[in-house]
Amino acid sequence: MDLFEYQARDIFEKHGVPVLGGVVATTPEEAREGAEKLGGGTVVVKAQVKTGGRGKAGGVKLAHSPEETAEKAGEILGMDIKGHTVHRVMIAQGAKIAEEFYFSVLLDRSNRNYLAMCSVEGGVEIEQLAVERPEALARIAVDPAVGIDEAKAAEIVDAAGFAADIKDKVAEVIQGLWTVFKAEDATLVEVNPLVKTEDGEIIALDGKVTLDENAGFRHPEHAELEDSAAADPLEAKAKENDLNYVKLDGEVGIIGNGAGLVMSTLDVVAYAGERHGGVKPANFLDIGGGANAQVMANGLDVILNDAQVKSVFVNVFGGITACDEVANGIVGALDILGDEASKPLVVRLDGNNVELGRQILTERNHPLVTLADTMDGGADLAAAKAAAAA
Ligand SMILES: Nc1ncnc2c1ncn2[C@@H]1O[C@H](COP(=O)(O)OP(=O)(O)OP(=O)(O)O)[C@@H](O)[C@H]1O
Ligand SMILES: [Mg+2]
Repeated sequence: MDLFEYQARDIFEKHGVPVLGGVVATTPEEAREGAEKLGGGTVVVKAQVKTGGRGKAGGVKLAHSPEETAEKAGEILGMDIKGHTVHRVMIAQGAKIAEEFYFSVLLDRSNRNYLAMCSVEGGVEIEQLAVERPEALARIAVDPAVGIDEAKAAEIVDAAGFAADIKDKVAEVIQGLWTVFKAEDATLVEVNPLVKTEDGEIIALDGKVTLDENAGFRHPEHAELEDSAAADPLEAKAKENDLNYVKLDGEVGIIGNGAGLVMSTLDVVAYAGERHGGVKPANFLDIGGGANAQVMANGLDVILNDAQVKSVFVNVFGGITACDEVANGIVGALDILGDEASKPLVVRLDGNNVELGRQILTERNHPLVTLADTMDGGADLAAAKAAAAA
């Protein structure tokens, strides 16, 4: 989960990373009040959107009075930045910047490690710097078992080439940012710019934080950080029911058990779709081990509410949850959903108790359900039905 800058600011503050005062506003009037709260001096009005390059897009503006703050907020609110509408701004205390630096620490998946990146040339052009002059961006591997301790922080500031008089201060801030990364279970903590003020203070002026949702159970407080307004309604509903669901852009709804089987089901449906007018899988949905009627009903409910879906392919390999239980799950789900179940269902069962499972579905003889013998056959049939209904 990516955080807004103001949320990152709050988390930095919580862990003792130096930040400036910041107040969130959703209207020009709130922005005026925010500026007053910050003392009425110079502030920066900053668009709160989860994308980079806000400054360049006109989403970061200086204001010298509460009146001007309201005016600038009025200009920025409602602005579109790379497809993101600005619903909130942060009124940030103005900093007297002497120098801008860059620091980030992130999960380095390809090296199964953490990676810290740091440069004395920070600011808005860091992506360009990384490409054009990679030597100006220090990259230091961070051992997850050790983290960024004093020695590692010193190594990072040396590699980046900080001036001797601020090395220690920067190293301390970097250790604070590591604390944020570790304590909050983040996969990214990025500060651009990290600044030196005219008074020689080191301050995190902009923060980008990505939290690892897999660690959410350790952080009940992270739930509040979620931007529910932006979430896909179907994904939100799936999440409420603890379903592993990802919405895709297609017409054939997919339900399977086990991530591997669901992934390969997406592939065979995509291939089959090419023979049927280019229909595609509509989602990833893994109902996992306990495919009882309620879980199946919840899954079907999410998929059938996707207006783009024209048919559904249920592809289950019976293991610990045997095929007869899954079949009863499907029958039960159709009963629970009643008239809401209105799209053709192709069901392929295999594995433990497959005969019994098929028998249950055959006996129920639901008008929407068709049994398929093989995964390829089922995918083809589901794609054909989606194409016919499209
Ligand atoms: N509180 C502040 N006081 C003074 N100047 C600021 C302040 N916040 C930002 N700035 C200036 O504006 C520039 C852009 O701000 P910021 O880094 O927050 O946005 P951005 O880089 O455009 O956004 P992103 O990092 O999401 O691409 C900074 O490099 C800095 O020079
Ligand atoms: Mg920035």
